Amino acid sequence: TSEDTLLLMKPNIVGRAEMDVQRIVTESGLRVILTRTLQMDKMQASQFYTEHQERSFFAELVDYVSSGPVVAMLISGPDAIRHLRKIVGPTDPAIARLEHPNSLRALFGVDKTMNSFHASDSHESASREIHFINSY
Ligand code: CMP
Repeated sequence: TSEDTLLLMKPNIVGRAEMDVQRIVTESGLRVILTRTLQMDKMQASQFYTEHQERSFFAELVDYVSSGPVVAMLISGPDAIRHLRKIVGPTDPAIARLEHPNSLRALFGVDKTMNSFHASDSHESASREIHFINSY
């Protein structure tokens, strides 16, 4: 059975990796249902990342994600949440380059903060994040 998840391309790669990302996601057997470009302000980015609001890197994360347009992709397929997180790779691109060299963060990530992608991490966050982007 198919499920939906959200892939977010963060501002530093918007405008240069869309074609590669579409191809990598599609070739892995997942489907890109729709793509939407949007600009979050700091308040919206804080809401999107509300689960991290107590973390030391929260302000940095909000500044980064609101620094320019992001591309949100609705992704669908069997086990899509877990599958997409594997394609995206570990949070830290340096680790991704060592352990998962073909992952999106290995290929396009800069560092732990500027890791270029977000992927929903559970059914609950997928549903919340898809709704967030949809009602934008
Ligand atoms: P993402 O998967 O979008 O969701 C949480 C984000 O927090 C993560 O990507 C990183 O961008 C950021 N993050 C996680 N850990 C750290 C950290 N130690 N330092 C800075 N940013 C982090």
